[in-house]
Amino acid sequence: MSDLKKIKDEFLLKLNENLNFNEINEIKSKLFGKNGLISSQFKKIGSINEEERKKFASDLNIIKDELLELIDTKINRIKNSEINEKLEKEKIDVTLPERSFVRGKIHPVSQTIDEISSIFSEIGFSVEEGPDVENEYNNFTALNTPDNHPARDMHDTFYLDKKKEKLLRTHTSPVQIRTMLKDKPPFKIIAPGRTYRSDSDQTHSPMFHQVEGLHIDKNINMGHLKGCLNYFIKEFFEVNKIKMRFRPSHFPFTEPSAEVDIGYEMKDGKIVIGEGNQWLEILGCGMVHPNVLKNVKIDPSKFQGYAFGIGIDRLAMLKYGIHDLRAFFDCDFRWLNHFGFDPLDVPTNYRGLSR
Ligand code: PHE
Repeated sequence: MSDLKKIKDEFLLKLNENLNFNEINEIKSKLFGKNGLISSQFKKIGSINEEERKKFASDLNIIKDELLELIDTKINRIKNSEINEKLEKEKIDVTLPERSFVRGKIHPVSQTIDEISSIFSEIGFSVEEGPDVENEYNNFTALNTPDNHPARDMHDTFYLDKKKEKLLRTHTSPVQIRTMLKDKPPFKIIAPGRTYRSDSDQTHSPMFHQVEGLHIDKNINMGHLKGCLNYFIKEFFEVNKIKMRFRPSHFPFTEPSAEVDIGYEMKDGKIVIGEGNQWLEILGCGMVHPNVLKNVKIDPSKFQGYAFGIGIDRLAMLKYGIHDLRAFFDCDFRWLNHFGFDPLDVPTNYRGLSR
């Protein structure tokens, strides 16, 4: 018994000290580990003579329970206080004002593409993509623009090889072909992206952006095209009324074809969209040519539809009062800081597009 009492007294004293997690665990294994002081007392039981054995075992069990409970309570207390300390240290006051740091801005072209996608998604268009490096077939031939067709010259194409098989796409229309080849009609897609032509001045840049639209289904007609574009322009410029003019035009891949102008006027040096007697050309469109449908194995007597191609940079310039197209691609930080958008300001139709 004196052995047991010694152990108990010694450890009661130790357990009263200010211990950390490791120290208390060390004590626990010293007592209750495989060769621990208490564990080895248990091994002794068998060798004790019969009269003393019962009492020894009962004393030993009491001491064991007592020490174990003490140790476990202490361990729990230490664990809790460590968690509380951590919580206290890592506390963040979310009501504090933000520190001033330099923040990136969203480029007006990216913002405009997001706005356009949001507007068209409201009326059931999904977004498709195609590569900037195209083959000549998708960019021209499949779009009813065969070799030697005069429209090829008008595109000022950047060819990437001598055979003129690879090129930088001159418009987003090849995405029409890619989309129709990989799936079955109906189709209702837009395809925003970069396009390239060898041309550069205040209103032309060798790289610019377009968004293609394609809607193929049964019984689609020019009225649907007009309704769709009218809705888009009103939503985009956030006006209730818009003056639009469809001017007959020519594209090899649409028949009939039209270019669309919107009405505007200058007020105090600013463009006001939707009023006045001036006209601005913003897009090309038309009913998809039956030859294009045949090229992608769609029967033009069953399916037909419209397509359009809108210049994105032009729209962004108009909406946000940017006068020189080249500034878009100068990478001038001060310019981007002025015309750019807050990264958290994601445009949606219901929350407002440009605020
Ligand atoms: N791809 C034409 C262009 O870049 C625009 C367009 C697209 C016209 C679709 C009609 C239909 O000029």
